[in-house]
Amino acid sequence: MGALLTGRNILIMGLRNKWSIAWGIAKTAYEQGANVILTYQGEREEEGAKELAADLGNAAIYNCDISRDEEIDQLFSNIETRFEKIHGLVHAIAHAKREDIQNNFIFTSREGFAHALDISAYSLVAVSRGAKKLMAEGASIITLTYLGADRVFTGYNVMGVAKAALEATVRYLANDLGNSGIRVNAISAGPIKTISAKGVKDFGSILDTVESKAPLKRRVTLEDLGKSALYLLSDLSSGVTGEIMHVDCGFNIMGV
Ligand SMILES: NC(=O)c1ccc[n+]([C@@H]2O[C@H](COP(=O)([O-])OP(=O)(O)OC[C@H]3O[C@@H](n4cnc5c(N)ncnc54)[C@H](O)[C@@H]3O)[C@@H](O)[C@H]2O)c1
Repeated sequence: MGALLTGRNILIMGLRNKWSIAWGIAKTAYEQGANVILTYQGEREEEGAKELAADLGNAAIYNCDISRDEEIDQLFSNIETRFEKIHGLVHAIAHAKREDIQNNFIFTSREGFAHALDISAYSLVAVSRGAKKLMAEGASIITLTYLGADRVFTGYNVMGVAKAALEATVRYLANDLGNSGIRVNAISAGPIKTISAKGVKDFGSILDTVESKAPLKRRVTLEDLGKSALYLLSDLSSGVTGEIMHVDCGFNIMGV
């Protein structure tokens, strides 16, 4: 047990199961003394997410579909009633329609493009606006992105476009919220087996390539991501905002 987040209320959005990146971050935050607040989406995830929340000192947990403004408003109203303030927000949410990450990118539909950008990029704007009212000076917002924002990974498709928008969103939010002493950063995570990742065509070969080419010769783990999130959520990163931090065992620096 450490104490880097003692007494801090940290909202972590996007808990599906024990493989979720949100879970890796939640566990680390809890071990560092945070009061963890979690969200999941819909009945299908409810039971599993609530069981996991129980393991973190019966963490508060709420349902929130990030595509619905009224659910976001309700979430922050519930949090204000129970906690008054939040000191950190983790946005670990993305979605694209299955056909848009299985077919060639050129076949992306207008609707599929709008959906991926709404859920995976705009949602950060919406939740940051909701959180701002409750955020104390020194609060930190983080999101999760992927190298597919900068480079082409066959099969990542519209999600790569959404991640590029998400990274630009981080910079614009960092500028807007800097006056209030709120920092906004992203972790660009190396590939890790989760339900979302399984939807990406040829994900297995991406994992194998990382393991053989990354300087550390291994894949990133939930613990790696939890520790880097801890740095960005805590005062250890007090001078860092608008940053896209690669946590990928160094894969992003490699050429051929
Ligand atoms: N797994 C990877 O290899 C990898 C790499 C880099 C970045 N990321 C990013 O990490 C984040 C977390 O994904 P993960 O890999 O842990 O997968 P995951 O499937 O465990 O989590 C994704 C979460 O997004 C939620 N979500 C989707 N649509 C939603 C909506 N409308 N409202 C609310 N929640 C919604 C799901 O319910 C789920 O909890 C995503 O942004 C993902 O793109 C993942």
